Amino acid sequence: MKRYADLSPTPRTIMTPGPVEADPRVLRAMSHTILGQFDPEFTAIMNETMEMLRELFRTDNRWAYPVDGTSRSGLEAVLAGLIEPGDRLLVPIFGRFGHLLTELSQRLGAEVYTIEKPWGEVFEPQEVIEAIDACRPDLVAIVHGETSTGRVQPLEAIGKACRERGILIAVDAVATLGGVPVETDAWCLDAVVGGAQKCLSVPSGMAPITYNERAEAKLLRRKRVERGLQPPSEPAADGAAASGSAAPAAAPAGLAALPAVGSLSPAALASAAPTLQPPAASELGGSVIRSNYLDLSQLQDYWSPARLNHHTEMTSMLYALREGVRIVLEEGLEERFARHRLHESALVAGLEAMGQRLYGNPACKLAVVACVEIPEGIDGESVRSMLLEQFGIEIASSFGPLKGRIWRIGTMGYSCSKRNVLLLLGALEAVLLRHGAELKAGAAVQAALDIYEGGSV
Ligand SMILES: Cc1ncc(COP(=O)(O)O)c(C=O)c1O
Repeated sequence: MKRYADLSPTPRTIMTPGPVEADPRVLRAMSHTILGQFDPEFTAIMNETMEMLRELFRTDNRWAYPVDGTSRSGLEAVLAGLIEPGDRLLVPIFGRFGHLLTELSQRLGAEVYTIEKPWGEVFEPQEVIEAIDACRPDLVAIVHGETSTGRVQPLEAIGKACRERGILIAVDAVATLGGVPVETDAWCLDAVVGGAQKCLSVPSGMAPITYNERAEAKLLRRKRVERGLQPPSEPAADGAAASGSAAPAAAPAGLAALPAVGSLSPAALASAAPTLQPPAASELGGSVIRSNYLDLSQLQDYWSPARLNHHTEMTSMLYALREGVRIVLEEGLEERFARHRLHESALVAGLEAMGQRLYGNPACKLAVVACVEIPEGIDGESVRSMLLEQFGIEIASSFGPLKGRIWRIGTMGYSCSKRNVLLLLGALEAVLLRHGAELKAGAAVQAALDIYEGGSV
């Protein structure tokens, strides 16, 4: 019998834009005993996590809870709930993740309009507002911190313009939540999606989200409760037949109207025919949300006092998220943002002293990601490999048009520390010298130390 070795991952210093090192307190929290998902002890943990998330998102929204899945699941859940086929959407794109929002929305049947900025830049808010007025969308979907280019898009004026015009706005704050200010209420953001494995220093696998009553109203118009969860007094209350909306009231003789008919064999269909029910619709006549797993109208029922079952909650991941957010709130949001700015300054000072060129417009640099142009004649992947193999430090490459052109260095959450910044600068200098680069040896770490000795920024 083949024997497999004990799992023994090498400790790493992770300086990428995610995943980053998990806080050891988070890892310890994950090892606690499993509780049942309706155990009052567990539902109390759920409620507490919602309360903490409201503080993190800076919102009074009733709904603030995690979607089980990576950050993309939070984005997809929000978009699946807010987009009905044919809805008009505006996506301002300034990097890879704007393209992701476009892709997700197109798959959901939206009529998607885009505006684009060259990578390395962001939009003047007025440019987005003009595009909004030109295409009159139902929803604007936009990235806050674009990790592919290391830029941050100012959102306040855009959020307020959407509110004045009665347009919803959904935001990808995956890279920014817990690292730089995300003001859900003050910026009039209707739905915001955060990331676990970035500035919260929780392993990947949960996407904290929040949305307000305006977004909820849209979800509720599209709500459908699973038939198997309805009480016995409402046997056929799975949609239109019970609620009197547009779908046919009686079972059709033909089988084509049955949902999922294609999955049944002719024999099974014949035997099922006497019990055929009309196709289900949403209870209030909106089009049914296309995903079951990512149906926020059902998920919020599970997070409400009703505790209406959906999927089985990810117990250990919730422990992790709760601990991650607890750490953030203990540190204090403003203090945490200041810490991220301090280490960003030290890192940037060190890179510049080393003679490295930072990529992108500095006016819109995202505090938690530094993008460095790979010097002429240097093999970027070889540098990354050597950093990992010789120093145990991981930095990231990039995507699309920036692939092979820049390195991306993250200073997020638990990974955002003086130790990591100094280690990285020293190691990068050594590796670049080893690759034949010409640079002023020793200057980088000294420049960073100068920042640290100068105190806060
Ligand atoms: C800005 C941004 N949005 C969305 C995502 C997707 O997140 P995930 O990989 O957790 O699904 C990422 C991941 O890197 C990201 O940086």
